Amino acid sequence: MKGPILKGPRVTLRPMKVSDAPNYVRWFKDKEVMKYFNNNVWGISLEKEKSAIRSLQRKVNSLNWAVEVDGYHIGGTGIVLDKKAGTGRWGIVIGEKKEWGKGYAVEIIYLCADYFFKKLKGERFDLMVEMKNEKALKAYKKAGFKLEGVMRSAGYNPRLKKRIDSGVMSILRSEWLKYKK
Ligand SMILES: CC(C)(COP(=O)(O)OP(=O)(O)OC[C@H]1O[C@@H](n2cnc3c(N)ncnc32)[C@H](O)[C@@H]1OP(=O)(O)O)[C@@H](O)C(=O)NCCC(=O)NCCS
Repeated sequence: MKGPILKGPRVTLRPMKVSDAPNYVRWFKDKEVMKYFNNNVWGISLEKEKSAIRSLQRKVNSLNWAVEVDGYHIGGTGIVLDKKAGTGRWGIVIGEKKEWGKGYAVEIIYLCADYFFKKLKGERFDLMVEMKNEKALKAYKKAGFKLEGVMRSAGYNPRLKKRIDSGVMSILRSEWLKYKK
């Protein structure tokens, strides 16, 4: 499902387009970007990425956005929804490495969480993060996520050639409404 346009002080979230595919393909073969990111898209081809975008646009249980700063496409974000349970599983990639460390992830979380809790009336906003991804953990804590547990040896990272521990982090509706009145 295409997400609506959401604008923050610096970042704009807009619906993903098939013409965005070459950027994702470039990011998904970059070892640094992909060090702790979703293994399924590692080294994906242009054709497969285009068809993945078309399929995401059709899915009714997921919202997907391209992230832009001043019209420049720097990454992507999305939420997989379980409407009955009132939950949303959030994910992010900022593919343009020179844009890391500028606070964009925190701003993107604010936009997505606010939309999820206020417009979609969600109850629980959560994510999974590899515990070695210190940068991500720091950004997520700063934006209000709480680490609620660690799933030990929950997966395999082929780039690090190691089994990984996955952290589960969440923000609940009551916490968000108190935090972001
Ligand atoms: C992880 C990621 C989303 C972080 O995005 P970002 O925009 O760079 O994060 P922010 O700038 O909002 O950072 C927030 C905090 O993390 C800190 N941080 C940034 N870079 C860091 C680094 N290299 N090491 C440790 N902390 C770092 C920032 O300093 C900031 O805290 P501060 O303001 O108190 O200093 C981004 O680097 C990314 O997309 N990486 C590749 C894909 C990935 O790993 N996705 C996440 C999968 S769960």
